[in-house]
Amino acid sequence: MERPLTQHITFPPLEIRQYEAIGGYQAVRKAVRHMQPQEVTALVKESNMKGRGGAGFSTGMKWSFVPMDVPGPKYLVANADEMEPGTFKDRWLLEGNPHQLLEGMIVAAYAIQATEAFVFLRWAYKDAAIAVRKAIAEAYDAGYLGKDILGTGYSLEMHLHTGVGRYMCGEETALLNSLEGKRATPRAKPPFPQVSGLFGKPTIVNNVETLSFIPHIVNKGADWFKSLSRTADGGTKIYGVSGRVNKPGAWELPMGITMRELMEDYAGGMKNGFGFRGVLPGGASTDFLIEKHMDITLDFAGVAAAGSRLGTGTMVVLDDQTCPVGFVHNLEHFFAQESCGFCTPCREGLPWTEKLLWAIEQGRGRNEDLELLLRHTEWLGPGNTFCALAPGAMEPLQSALKYFRDDFERHIREHRCPYHDPVPAAPASAHLHHTHHL
Ligand SMILES: Cc1cc2nc3c(=O)[nH]c(=O)nc-3n(C[C@H](O)[C@H](O)[C@H](O)COP(=O)(O)O)c2cc1C
Ligand code: SF4
Repeated sequence: MERPLTQHITFPPLEIRQYEAIGGYQAVRKAVRHMQPQEVTALVKESNMKGRGGAGFSTGMKWSFVPMDVPGPKYLVANADEMEPGTFKDRWLLEGNPHQLLEGMIVAAYAIQATEAFVFLRWAYKDAAIAVRKAIAEAYDAGYLGKDILGTGYSLEMHLHTGVGRYMCGEETALLNSLEGKRATPRAKPPFPQVSGLFGKPTIVNNVETLSFIPHIVNKGADWFKSLSRTADGGTKIYGVSGRVNKPGAWELPMGITMRELMEDYAGGMKNGFGFRGVLPGGASTDFLIEKHMDITLDFAGVAAAGSRLGTGTMVVLDDQTCPVGFVHNLEHFFAQESCGFCTPCREGLPWTEKLLWAIEQGRGRNEDLELLLRHTEWLGPGNTFCALAPGAMEPLQSALKYFRDDFERHIREHRCPYHDPVPAAPASAHLHHTHHL
């Protein structure tokens, strides 16, 4: 099994000479010396590379929307904000092989003729910041960045920008506002960043995993990339699993392996004493899947057909001893805190959702709260808010209400959390009443 993306991951990561020794920066040499920018875009389009940032949009198609005849600067941004709960795949790439990302960025920047590139890095990723900063300096020294790259006349400046620790900064237009020094609220689309992005100029924002694939596609071709996958979406994919499994972790595997293979062969099955209840397949903002979905293929179409999203491909497992109400409450607490407050349904609705779930978990819920929660999943659903944070926040909730409704009802009926609180002693009055009849 080929693992192009992760085979050269080391800690500390390869320095530039070591990276070159294993074929590093060959894709930059090939692209800038021997390919037209449009040829690079066409190749990536042909490879069926779908963006790994969550939405699964064709990478080559996205690049092709950049108007090439517009004068003035163009920008490329690597989205390394990675704050989706349960997601830790980009960190592996950033800390373990930063030159691979930089190489992908230089090729992508060349394809859209960008003049400046940014790595927008999660604030908390301190080790990644050190690794990326060092790699950028080495790439400048070696002539892969800066003026007149490899004597071809193409020039590119690259900067590392560390975020401020807000989930919202991962949304591409909020990210661009943040990069401009403004408040991280999303922008109206259209215009899309490809046409009017950073400082109003054409901009491509791609995920770290997406960009890290680019050198391999340029070196080995579209057919090779497609052959790595078991389905129509090209390539391998970094899948991850967290929760009460025997071997939580992340693995680069063919796109389209089944959930069962991932859970059993790689994550090693559930820990002793714990049963499987469900899984969020693509980070926290995706719908739960359950046991009956074990044999679905983990590609964009396969997970969508089962009613969820591949998202980031990093699974969060819910076991049979963790309260589903508490689990979802914890997620909604995060989303409520991270709402940027720009639109009313999200700003007001997420704290309400959180409070309702907290009340149910504490045994203070009412039957009508379930109906109210369901209505929130509509009010905050797609089309009612400015960005995808709120609809994403509703995905684990709406699917929990579908698959684990019994648990919600039991909390309300028994006025307690069946997972945490002991069965309450019978009230004194009930006891007296009982003995009286004896
Ligand atoms: C609230 C929110 C947070 C996001 N966070 C990230 C993130 O941390 N990293 C990322 O690559 N994409 C994130 N996205 C998706 C980006 O907006 C964008 O679609 C992605 O960077 C595009 O990359 P791709 O084309 O390579 O998939 C987020 C979206 C939303 C709505
Ligand atoms: S949905 Fe939430 S995070 Fe997105 S713009 Fe509206 S308030 Fe901000």
